[in-house]
Amino acid sequence: MTRPFIPPHPPRPPRPVAGWRGFFGERARSSVYGWSERAFETDHIKRRILGFTVHVLLDPDHVQQVLLEEAANYAKPDIVHELLHPIIGHGLLTSDGELWREQRRIVAASFAPGAVETQRDRFIEAANRAMDGWNDGQLVDMAAEATRTTMTVIALALFGGDPRLISDTSMAHIAAAIEGFSEARMLALLRLPQFPLTARGRAGQRGQIFLRRTLSEVVDDRWHGRVADDFLTGVVTALRERFPDEQARALAIDNAATFYLAGHETTANALTWTLFLLAEQPELQEQLAEEATAALDGGGRATIDGLSLLRRALMESMRLYPPVPRFDRQAIEPARLGEWDVKPGDIVSIWPWLIHRHRKLWDEPDTFRIDRFEAKAGRHRFQYLPFGGGPRTCVGAQFATIEALTLLAHWLRRWKFVSLGRPVEPGGMVTLRPKGGLILKLEQRR
Ligand code: HEM
Repeated sequence: MTRPFIPPHPPRPPRPVAGWRGFFGERARSSVYGWSERAFETDHIKRRILGFTVHVLLDPDHVQQVLLEEAANYAKPDIVHELLHPIIGHGLLTSDGELWREQRRIVAASFAPGAVETQRDRFIEAANRAMDGWNDGQLVDMAAEATRTTMTVIALALFGGDPRLISDTSMAHIAAAIEGFSEARMLALLRLPQFPLTARGRAGQRGQIFLRRTLSEVVDDRWHGRVADDFLTGVVTALRERFPDEQARALAIDNAATFYLAGHETTANALTWTLFLLAEQPELQEQLAEEATAALDGGGRATIDGLSLLRRALMESMRLYPPVPRFDRQAIEPARLGEWDVKPGDIVSIWPWLIHRHRKLWDEPDTFRIDRFEAKAGRHRFQYLPFGGGPRTCVGAQFATIEALTLLAHWLRRWKFVSLGRPVEPGGMVTLRPKGGLILKLEQRR
């Protein structure tokens, strides 16, 4: 049994900080800063922020009500549409009602367990491509490396390996687009037009434009039959059967952007945090390397059954550092959550970051303990939700899990990831990533 390990989290003031201070001060640093101790022990937080009423749900029963039982009454918030529209339009992640249902039906089969299984060779290819560039004793930013690798996976698995989607230019523009979100969010909340004021905001907008232009070209290649069969070709064909041409083309670009972005950045963060946690716990890393070696001997295709320790480590990593630390809904009709009245237009905010570390739900909530995932019994269905829940649960959950396990198993079998002892701080406004990257030393296993 390895020693208990409490990985870093932002400081927690004993009492809630004033709304404006949390919002413009601590909270502006990263989405997970500025929460007081109270947020990790209470059942519900209601706040007024810049004219919005926000309910932060911390009781898994209420989360279940919103995401599952009364899902039809809770849509994606207007502000999310406004923020994400320039980049992912009305694709699967940002649509509601019949348009959402139709798009979910179109893509669902490509993400069913059997279909994910057929992608396993692409995951292995991407793992090998990354390792080809590593040298013994080298210091590597594993956050960047994980991003490049998951980008390669998505390009290979969904877009026929299109090189335009794996370039360093694409990576830089995506990073800029994500960085630009915090300013865009602030402008949207203050109800100001989206004219970025800072260099970071302007770089973000250039990143969005680059992405839309590149993905329009990628879609047009499929539209005009210049590319053989791949996931995107299937989406283009299905959309053309159901919608007028102009709308079908716009939705095809929206979904290309949705799957390209949602499909790699989150998984990259899950991989990065897992590598950080394993670099800090070398004994556990050794155990996982042995498990991976045993599972992969015999041809390189590990089954999930053979990677049960690694699976638990990944789950615990996504509990402590959920790649999507928060997601929101907006009430359509009046509703009630326990003793709380929800009015039409209220924002209902679900924070895996808080729920995953809540004192009423977890023993030693800040401690890394993979044994907590040995059995499912005793856990509420909605207390562990890295992939969301209900009908809008992440369509790529199975894909991401098998992908992450495959990449990690192949990497751990050949390489040791060594901590340099540098402090790591959670950063990021939309997804949760180590601020400034994650530099680790790579040592080749003999
Ligand atoms: C560890 C990796 C991932 C995490 C933690 C993650 C997390 C999430 C979460 C929390 C949601 C729900 C958001 C909400 O309810 O508002 C979501 C939705 C979604 N995810 Fe993921 N995701 C991951 C990987 C992927 C991958 C690999 C893909 C595609 C290849 C993907 C595509 C999507 C899409 C399209 C949606 C919207 C689904 C819908 O609304 O019907 N995700 N994801």
